[in-house]
Amino acid sequence: MTKKIAVLPGDGIGIEITAEAVKVIECLNNDFGLNAEMEQGLVGGSAYDASQTPLPEATLDLAKAADAVLLGAVGGYKWESLDISVRPEKGLLGLRSELELFANLRPAILYPQLAHASTLKAEIVSGLDIMIVRELTGGIYFGQPRGVRTLENGEQQGFNTLVYTESEIERIAHVAFDTAMKRNKRLCSVDKANVLECTELWREVVTRVSQAYPEVELSHMYVDNAAMQLVREPKQFDVMVTTNMFGDILSDCAAMLTGSIGMLPSASMDKNNKGMYEPIHGSAPDIAGQNMANPLATILSVSMMLRYSLQAEELAVKVEQAVNRVLDQKLRTADIFTDGHTRVGTDAMGDAVVAALRSNL
Ligand code: IPM
Ligand code: MG
Repeated sequence: MTKKIAVLPGDGIGIEITAEAVKVIECLNNDFGLNAEMEQGLVGGSAYDASQTPLPEATLDLAKAADAVLLGAVGGYKWESLDISVRPEKGLLGLRSELELFANLRPAILYPQLAHASTLKAEIVSGLDIMIVRELTGGIYFGQPRGVRTLENGEQQGFNTLVYTESEIERIAHVAFDTAMKRNKRLCSVDKANVLECTELWREVVTRVSQAYPEVELSHMYVDNAAMQLVREPKQFDVMVTTNMFGDILSDCAAMLTGSIGMLPSASMDKNNKGMYEPIHGSAPDIAGQNMANPLATILSVSMMLRYSLQAEELAVKVEQAVNRVLDQKLRTADIFTDGHTRVGTDAMGDAVVAALRSNL
């Protein structure tokens, strides 16, 4: 059966890296029997430029009708002064919430070939394999009320609201425990229960859900300590589960352990395994259009899409093998370049992955 993939390149390097991921999907279509139809849509700043909204109706319809969504990145200097309600980021947040993609899986895996590209000592990061499960449609990102108001004394006051219902915590906890069951059966829930009532409830509910998973060893950690432990001894973690904002911060931190944020894919899933797949990095306007960006995070996002939404585990593995192969060939984009390797551009990296895929027919 034909699968539909909505391709939303977005802004900045999103456009270049998505083009390389599309090459990989085309290769899978042509040579590996994948039957995926791709259709492109606008999101973020490029959508705003075309139609004054970061999430046009047509894009939302396309994403809703698709089996999976591949997204590049959104944002850029050009749109920073726009009202927050129409900023590029709203396009991404709108997709996440409209599609109810509440479970964000962000693996941080260190490819052994990149042990020396990390700013941390190789022995601290070698063999690293962490899965961060981030709640994606709730918490302070979406809580009401929010805004900036003027107080009686004329001073302005900004405010946001951190809210979680029990059911929101329960469903993300189940995803995290299920993920842990398929891995090393250790789950660390990250909160700030010593200060924030909302995350005190988080801790309580996660503990309650743990009763259904007696095989999983559950621990709790405050977010400040978790940030420190991630750079001190990251291999103590297997699966981490946390709120929207803490997950945003900790996943960037975990990304750097792997050498570059340019290597990390992500999957944002709804309750039926429909997903949106995107690199965890942003649109990097400073290097956009220069053929410098690393397309591997986006290509690895295709691999996650094959695994979680298109039920094509074998092809997911082939894509991962192809990425391994180009790293073995010592090809490196600027972000992961170290002495003794060959520096390549975005397109050459994509082409090399396609060639590696083909050699593994
Ligand atoms: C991410 C990004 C987004 C987020 C931004 C672009 C809205 O940082 O996916 O981690 O904060 O969730
Ligand atoms: Mg982020």
